Amino acid sequence: MRFDVVTLFPQMIVEASRYGVTGRALERGQAELVTWNPRDFTRDRHRTVDDRPYGGGPGMVMKAEPLRAAIRAAREADARPARVVYLSPQGRKLDQAAVETFSRRARMILVAGRYEGVDERLVESEIDEEWSIGDYVLSGGELAALVVIDAVTRLLPGVLHHEESARQDSHVAGLLDHPHYTRPEEIDGRRVPQVLLSGDHQAIARWRLKQALGRTWLRRPDLLARLELDETRRQLLEE
Ligand code: ADE
Repeated sequence: MRFDVVTLFPQMIVEASRYGVTGRALERGQAELVTWNPRDFTRDRHRTVDDRPYGGGPGMVMKAEPLRAAIRAAREADARPARVVYLSPQGRKLDQAAVETFSRRARMILVAGRYEGVDERLVESEIDEEWSIGDYVLSGGELAALVVIDAVTRLLPGVLHHEESARQDSHVAGLLDHPHYTRPEEIDGRRVPQVLLSGDHQAIARWRLKQALGRTWLRRPDLLARLELDETRRQLLEE
């Protein structure tokens, strides 16, 4: 997977991606990351990337031309076709199903805005999709782009040590995850649930599924409304 990120703060993206799972995937060449700064595509002496909004009002708007030039340069830097994704609170809300779709693509161009937003004509002419990471406002799209990069990269083939762990995550089967425990067996009187020490894999799987269902019911009933259990899980509950 190749990520091209159009941003006024490339170091934010590069630096944050150096850690953990994304850092390792980049080192191994399982993912590629290239940044494009619209400021490098300006033509005036002051390298202007923003301007006052037509119609007045507070804040500034990102100018269309430097962004357009940066997006086009990113597009042309690789022969494979790329969807251009703009991160904004007006976009469709990101979920695991969207992340899985992204992970099957060869490349993505992620556009991070700053200020009050970008000139709408840029959105109309260059952007294929608009996505939000949640109903709150960030001061720029960089953290949202990093969220996409992280969530997608960990799904790429060979990236996680345990392929299983990506399949068992929260949200993957439409459920929240079950609780996890590691040593010691007791902390301040709180013991690890006995079933996890039993060695009975079937019983453990059933307990975990029940925990996941219970948590989802208590914390995210909206997810349960849409849930369809697969055959393996259905059988587990019947035993
Ligand atoms: N930019 C600012 N806020 C955002 C959000 N919630 N999601 C994606 N991009 C954003």
